[in-house]
Amino acid sequence: MKFRAIKGTKDILPSESHHWQWVEATVRRTMHAYGYREIRTPIFEQTALFARSIGELTDIVSKEMYTFLDRSNESITLRPEGTAATLRAYIQHSLETQSSLTKLYYIGPMFRQERPQAGRLRQFHQFGAEAIGSSSPQLDVEMMLLPLHIYRDLGIQQFNLTINSVGCEKCRPTYKERLRSELMRVYDKLSPDSQRRVETNPLRVLDSKDENDRELTASMPLIGDYLCAQCSSHFNAVCELLEMSKVPYTIDYRLVRGLDYYTKTAFEITSTALGSQDALAGGGRYDLLVEELGGKPAPGVGFAAGIERLLLVLSRTNALHIHPPVPDLYIVALDEEARTVAFQKAIELRARGIAVELDYQGRSIKAQMREANKQGARYVLVLGSNELVSGKGMVKEMVSGKEYEVFLEQLELPKGLE
Ligand code: HAM
Repeated sequence: MKFRAIKGTKDILPSESHHWQWVEATVRRTMHAYGYREIRTPIFEQTALFARSIGELTDIVSKEMYTFLDRSNESITLRPEGTAATLRAYIQHSLETQSSLTKLYYIGPMFRQERPQAGRLRQFHQFGAEAIGSSSPQLDVEMMLLPLHIYRDLGIQQFNLTINSVGCEKCRPTYKERLRSELMRVYDKLSPDSQRRVETNPLRVLDSKDENDRELTASMPLIGDYLCAQCSSHFNAVCELLEMSKVPYTIDYRLVRGLDYYTKTAFEITSTALGSQDALAGGGRYDLLVEELGGKPAPGVGFAAGIERLLLVLSRTNALHIHPPVPDLYIVALDEEARTVAFQKAIELRARGIAVELDYQGRSIKAQMREANKQGARYVLVLGSNELVSGKGMVKEMVSGKEYEVFLEQLELPKGLE
C-alpha cells in the first residue's frame, strides 16, 4: 500500500524549508521590532471556543472545521485560526495582570476543510499578532504596518490594502436592519449563499463574489453612512494615521471578512499575483471578544497572514532568491584510516560551530568531490595517507580555487569560518 499526504496538506521539503526559515526569521525580527512577544498555543481546543468567537454561522465554523469527539467524548477542533486560542490563553493565564497592554504574535499551522486549490490548503500556516488592552487607532494601523513591513523586507513590492469599519454594537444593528429590508426586496434574485446570509449576516451579502449579487446590491446603503460618532471618528483616525505613514489604501465599505468578531476596523491585504485566492492577510479590531470569551472586558486588534500564499507570491514574482544553507567544509577522505580521522575532525569542528560534511558511503574521491560541489561546500579538505603522516593538509576555497596549508592537529580554518 502506498501512503500519501492527506488532500490539502503539503510536505515542506528540504529544497524549500530554507524559504520557510527565512520567512519565519523575518517575522520574528519584525515582531520584536514592534514589541510583540511570541505565544504558542495548542493546535486543538474545545470546539465551543471557535464557535463562540468566530461565529456559529460563519463558513469557517459551519462547514470548514476539523471537529471530532476524542476518547472522553469531548468535542475537539483543530484550530482554524489563531485569535480565539490566543485570547483563551490571555484570559486563562490572566496576562492582563502582567501588563496593561499585551502584545502577542504567533506562527503556526491552522486547519480548515476547504476545497484545495493553489493558495488554499487544509493545513496552512499563518503568522499573526494580537494586541489586547487598548482601543487606540494607532494599534489598528500597527496591525497593517506589521505585515506590510514583513512583505517589503521579503521583497514583495505589490499589494493592496483595503480597509473598512464594520461598526459596533451601537451602530451596526440599525444598519443591519436597514440593509436586511433592502435585501428582502431582491431576495428571490440573490444567489443561494446570499439568500442564506440575508437572515444570518446581511453584511456579508455585500461582500459576495457573485456578479449578479453585486449588481443587485450596487446601490444599497453602506455601513459608512451608518457609523456612530465613536466608530466614525475612530475610522477617520485610522485613515489619517495611514496617510501619515504614507501607506496607500482603499476604503471598501463592502469589506466584511468571514469572521464575526470584528468591531470597527476590518482590513485585508491582497496581491494581484495570487489570482482568485488573493488575500495575503486580514485582520481587524475585536473590542467585545475578550469579554465574550469570559475575560474582563478589554479591547483588542490583530491580523493574520498566510505563509503559503506569501511564498506563492514570491515565487510567482521571481523574488525567491534565498539559497539553501551549505556546508562550510567538506572533508574528502581517501582511505579507511583517513575516514576515521575525517570523522574525528568533523566532530571537533562541529563542536566549534562549523558546518562539516563528509562521505559515509565509502565513495571514490571523484564522487566525494562531486558531492562537495553539489552541496556547495565553501571549502574542501582532502585527507589521505600523505596528510596523516605529515600532519598537514590543504584546504581549498571552492569559489576562488585558492589553497591554504593547515595543521591537522590544530585545524585553523580561514578567517570568517568561525
Ligand atoms: P483570515 O482572513 O481567516 O483571518 O486568515 C488570514 C490569512 O490566512 C488569509 O488572508 C490567508 O492568507 C490565510 N489563509 C486563510 N485560509 C487559508 C487556506 N485555506 N489556505 C491557505 N491560506 C489561508 C484570520 O484567520 C483572523 N484570525 C485574523 C485576525 C487576527 N483578526 C484579528 N486578529
